[in-house]
Amino acid sequence: MKVAVIGTGYVGLVTAATFSFLGHEISCLDVNAERIERLNKGEIPIYEPGLAELFELSAKNGTKPVFTTKAQQAIEGAEFIFIAVGTPPKDNGEADLSYLESAAKTIGTYLSDGAIVINKSTVPVGSGNWVRMLVEKGVAERAAAQNQSLAGFAQSLTKAHPVTFTVASNPEFLREGSAIFDTLYPDRIVIGTDDSKTRDRLEDLYKSLKEQKFKEPSFCKRPEGFGEVPMISTDITSAEMIKYSANAFLAMKISFANQIANICDLVGADVTEVMHGIGSDSRIGNKFLSAGIGWGGSCFGKDVQAIIKIAQEYDYEPELLKATTDVNYKQRELVVKRLQSELKILKGKRIGLLGLAFKPNTDDMRDAPSIDIARALIKMGAEVRAIDPIATENAKRIAPEIHYSSSLEELVSGLDALVLVTEWDAYKELDMKSVLSKMNGNIFIDGRNQYDPSALKALGFNYIGMGRH
Ligand code: NAD
Ligand code: UGA
Repeated sequence: MKVAVIGTGYVGLVTAATFSFLGHEISCLDVNAERIERLNKGEIPIYEPGLAELFELSAKNGTKPVFTTKAQQAIEGAEFIFIAVGTPPKDNGEADLSYLESAAKTIGTYLSDGAIVINKSTVPVGSGNWVRMLVEKGVAERAAAQNQSLAGFAQSLTKAHPVTFTVASNPEFLREGSAIFDTLYPDRIVIGTDDSKTRDRLEDLYKSLKEQKFKEPSFCKRPEGFGEVPMISTDITSAEMIKYSANAFLAMKISFANQIANICDLVGADVTEVMHGIGSDSRIGNKFLSAGIGWGGSCFGKDVQAIIKIAQEYDYEPELLKATTDVNYKQRELVVKRLQSELKILKGKRIGLLGLAFKPNTDDMRDAPSIDIARALIKMGAEVRAIDPIATENAKRIAPEIHYSSSLEELVSGLDALVLVTEWDAYKELDMKSVLSKMNGNIFIDGRNQYDPSALKALGFNYIGMGRH
């Protein structure tokens, strides 16, 4: 089937790679010419494990996607048009829908009769109808332009029926760093539409994924016992709400773990033990209960803010969601407070950050806790050094005031305190004896609770975990 993907960021590229791997004909549109040029050279502009390999498999199977900045080339003739443009937060917390608006108008200009426009971007409730209206406007403007030319007028007379289309919502649940795995082996696929034919066609597009009728790639194995993927069909509004609610719930789970961690600190309990203890209850589940310096990334913060804004528009104060956000950002401040309480005066102190990305296995620096922590320390006069296996170049663009170390040795030498910010595999099993021997001080803040407190204390570290000692 012919599929167009609008936007070649994390979601757009993973969607394109997956559908082309499953044998569909894909065209990708982006307004960022540099990005498209790189894609056409075979370069992958983001770091996402398995993405390049999946594109390679598609190329071998003869279904390599077309990457273009030309809307007509991407959209005309496509049966399915996925929107995967960014919906970043505005200063007031609402979702900025300007990219979505522009994408919808462009689609209206070029879409073919019978196409389905599917929204994969995370959008406020009600956006489905708005997208339909914008696409309709594009279609109407095109018809008017055609009618203005004589040839077009003649053509319109012979036209049997106008361009028809439907709009659906298909929220995306992938996680950066494991996006290919999450997309090939999803927990569920949600389709929001009010039209049964649209639902049937989308179910058909997803059939091989749903039934898992594809040869698993060697670099992304199917989990043992993984069966058919549940398909959740609902209306557009509920689908839009499912996406925000899923992110809000996950963010809340982490904030809950962090709040309990802070109480564990007061009473002398170990939050990792506590979370293991509660997570074993199948009603609670053991995922997303890792306490630490909290969540970051492009979505939890913006989506929780956006759903808060939606509720407030209806004059409802979503207290739980507001607390979820407050608890999260206070975890970043806690790291600074702990350093201050140990080092007293931060001015002139050298502090090293292990990891910059908001989570391991990504180069994404959006809302990364590392930046807030570094900036607060720098403001207090500390020298902040940092290292990351992949995200350094992106971090440099956001925070040039940080000293970026090119090796672990350079990072740790003469440090007063070291903070584990991102639990990359490489930073989980460091030779801590050697690290300590190069440091000036002995403070280690384990922002992700990755190390054994007693082992580090035995080495001579002043170990400070997040809810464990
Ligand atoms: P991104 O910023 O990485 O990519 C968006 C791309 O869209 C950019 O390359 C941009 O140039 C392009 N674009 C903007 N306007 C365009 C237009 N009019 N026409 C064509 N291209 C255009 O964004 P992302 O992280 O992939 O997120 C996309 C959406 O998916 C967001 O709504 C996000 O909330 C949601 N989402 C993201 C993730 C994730 O892990 N990143 C997961 C689930 C859902
Ligand atoms: C998250 C969701 O997990 C995806 O389902 C969703 O599609 C996506 O947002 C989105 O809408 O963009 P992502 O942000 O890529 O995915 O990564 P996560 O693995 O969810 O991690 C988010 C943040 O939470 C990271 O900073 C991570 O370190 C933190 N985290 C995660 C914790 O602090 N504790 C945990 O137990 C789990």
